Amino acid sequence: MIADRLIYRIGTLYTPNQKPPVKGKDMKMIQTYSHAFIAIKEGKIIGIGEGDGDSFKGECTDIIDAKGAVVLPGLIDSHTHLVHAGSREDEYHELQKGIPYLDILKHGGGILGTVHKTRMATCEMLYHQARHSLDTMMLHGTTVVESKSGYGLDYENESKQLRVNRKLDETHPIRMISTYMGAHAIPKEFSHDKDAYIADMLTDMEMIYRDGMAEAVDVFCEEGVFSLSDTKKILREAKALGFKIKMHADEIHPLGGAGLGVELGCKSVDHLMAISDADIQLLASSNTIANLLPGTSFFLKKPYANARKMIDQGVAISMATDYNPGSSPTENLQFIMHLASNQMGLHPEEILNAVTINASYHLDLSDKKGSLEIGKDADFIVLDIPNLAYLMYHYGINHVRDVFILGKYVVKDQKIVRD
Ligand code: NIG
Ligand code: FE
Repeated sequence: MIADRLIYRIGTLYTPNQKPPVKGKDMKMIQTYSHAFIAIKEGKIIGIGEGDGDSFKGECTDIIDAKGAVVLPGLIDSHTHLVHAGSREDEYHELQKGIPYLDILKHGGGILGTVHKTRMATCEMLYHQARHSLDTMMLHGTTVVESKSGYGLDYENESKQLRVNRKLDETHPIRMISTYMGAHAIPKEFSHDKDAYIADMLTDMEMIYRDGMAEAVDVFCEEGVFSLSDTKKILREAKALGFKIKMHADEIHPLGGAGLGVELGCKSVDHLMAISDADIQLLASSNTIANLLPGTSFFLKKPYANARKMIDQGVAISMATDYNPGSSPTENLQFIMHLASNQMGLHPEEILNAVTINASYHLDLSDKKGSLEIGKDADFIVLDIPNLAYLMYHYGINHVRDVFILGKYVVKDQKIVRD
């Protein structure tokens, strides 16, 4: 078959090559091709392997010389709070002084401060701020982004955030996946009646499902926010409606969220800095992914989730930025990969599986994305590095030179290509 586009003279191409979820010791396995090529037709991979790919060349093939660079699948940022108004650098100072994150929330700041700003913002304002972040993500190699609501906390403003997600999906090359997170905090108008808020939210959730505004529902299961039993109630109803479910679990206090997530059939349980040993065992015996967010530990100066122990016990791990204005203000998934190596002791291959195939698995995209194989979407990144390990080692800068999504150039020489 003749390709529309052929990328050749790739120094080394690294890709996951196992059926997800990739668990435990299998996370160390990655396929490599040296002196490789990728052939693309109509946005899909039609050929991949070692050599120059000559058999895919025709008169009209656009041929690109990778000049010995490394190629990886597009990175998948499977947990973000992308759409929000403003920023919280004022609070950063308080966090630095040691005031706990949950105390700031208790006093009406934190998430609730961003809720106030997001409610005041128009769709256009939210769109422009989020689109700017999405560009930054893409420049750093991200090609799929999961984006949660949760800064509206009423129907009008939650659906406003979700509409922004939809507009971004329609107008930006990054593939967007929307999650409804009405259960992110208790809004101040319900501060004395959490149950009434939950009741309202469950009604809103039905409308959001009916209008196809989100694929999944997420809950912040934490002391002083939504309890284990609140979470169970919300996620059971979400699942009964037809939503996929996930949760922010065991982030600060070990409430047993991860175990509940497994019991309910969550696609992922996220954070897990305070997970119990028993829940690690439960995760290992399930297909729920442990979605770890080391940027939050770094920024809040908290312990890191014990990723090494989880993998050694057979858990499937993914990783994401958790990009949000309060606990992880970064769009840069490469920095998260560095933390996974430097602070969590993971191997480069484990980290690559975590930010590609396992992330695509819990977003239900693994038939199209998350690895470079014939028939899959041609979403890949070209990096100026000598090998995969170098990406984890040389930190704090952007190594991505080019990005392709569905076979099209979207970043070339570190600059965004617009149609
Ligand atoms: O994943 N933990 C709850 N939600 C976010 C933080 C949101 C915020 O502080 O604005 C998180 O860390
Ligand atoms: Fe989060």
